[in-house]
Amino acid sequence: MSPEPSENTKTPRNVVVGVAGGIAAYKACHLIREFTEGGDNVRVVPTPAALNFVGAATFEALSGNPVDTGVFSRVDEVQHVRVGKDADLIVIAPATADTIARIAAGRADDLLTATALVATCPVVLAPAMHTEMWENPATQDNVETLRRRGIVVLEPAHGRLTGTDTGPGRMLEAAQIAEMARTVLETGPFGLSLQGKKVVISAGGTQENIDPVRYIGNRSSGRQGFALADIAAHRGADVTVVAGDTDALDTPPGAEIVKVRSTRDMKKAVDRAAENADFVIMAAAVSDYRPENEADSKLKKGESDDALSTLRMVENPDILKGLVDKRNAGETSATIVGFAAETDKPLEYGKAKLERKGADLLMVNSVAGGSVFGELRNSGWLIRADGEVEEIADGPKHVVAARIWDGIEALTSNRQ
Ligand code: CTP
Repeated sequence: MSPEPSENTKTPRNVVVGVAGGIAAYKACHLIREFTEGGDNVRVVPTPAALNFVGAATFEALSGNPVDTGVFSRVDEVQHVRVGKDADLIVIAPATADTIARIAAGRADDLLTATALVATCPVVLAPAMHTEMWENPATQDNVETLRRRGIVVLEPAHGRLTGTDTGPGRMLEAAQIAEMARTVLETGPFGLSLQGKKVVISAGGTQENIDPVRYIGNRSSGRQGFALADIAAHRGADVTVVAGDTDALDTPPGAEIVKVRSTRDMKKAVDRAAENADFVIMAAAVSDYRPENEADSKLKKGESDDALSTLRMVENPDILKGLVDKRNAGETSATIVGFAAETDKPLEYGKAKLERKGADLLMVNSVAGGSVFGELRNSGWLIRADGEVEEIADGPKHVVAARIWDGIEALTSNRQ
């Protein structure tokens, strides 16, 4: 995926890419590219151990800047203080268990930890380590300490580690790290405002089978729903994503994913997950109708021409409406948020839809000309049940997700 250009390409930001000593150091090369190609000025600060994995020459060539590891290099320039003071953003990827521990302890025994100790700009850490190290209480306590201090520690991905083992601890992909770092620059560090909350998000399009090889689907990518899940998980929520067709996307780290295809499967999964949820967000593009009959074997031209030329459709259940009915019957107390994609009169139709469906909030975006679907940016209006409308300015989908969560959280805190 090509990186988004920096929002302010006119005044390049000073981005420090810190690299600790882990095998994922090679992915830092892609991360450097994400920032340089966005117009940022990148300074790479590896730990001495990181140079066992990638050489200083690679980092210097990719960033166009000198590379030092120790506090005694360029002492005349007071480098151990200056690099951190000049930074607009520090991203440490990979952040190993050892580097996390040293930053949490306030150590400054190499240029990277000294830089982190001096910094007043946003600091984002992308952990990478074996599952045992990540889950060890020592690491978890250090992560909690850093998060309490406003440092953003991203959730690691769940996947293949250095050896043949798999589990949580794998470093996120460079594009995911850059996306989160840019979001933090725009919205400020994530607080743990959703800690202890259970969040259910549906994302992507549903698929309604015609026969074993054909289906009716739609153009939703699931990107906005996944961004909402990502932000919620980083604000401390316990997140379940019920995902339709989202195969082109990286899974949001820290969220449980339930894969579904049809609307009826999605309804079952959402209803089950929503039982004790605090928030349910229906960001999925749900098919309102499905073919009346699903053929067991492939419909053949010349043999099944009637079935292929005329599809009779029947209505699907409305998942959102069903959730609202449950809430009205006292079966759940979840805050329910809907989405609407409209080609015409988005605000007028959005307000009418919110009223018709009975949700607490509706995010409406204009999809005139097929915009939004699959794209990296979004915008729209967040409409509340009391009629109040908040405009959500155009921005990357993660920034839009953070604004939507701000709106949802403001609504629920007003109620308490
Ligand atoms: N939705 C749902 N179940 C359906 C259809 C839609 O839960 N069967 C949810 C969507 O996830 C979204 C909201 O309802 O959060 C609005 O979806 P949309 O398709 O825009 O609404 P419709 O009721 O289908 O309205 P219309 O087709 O008239 O625009």
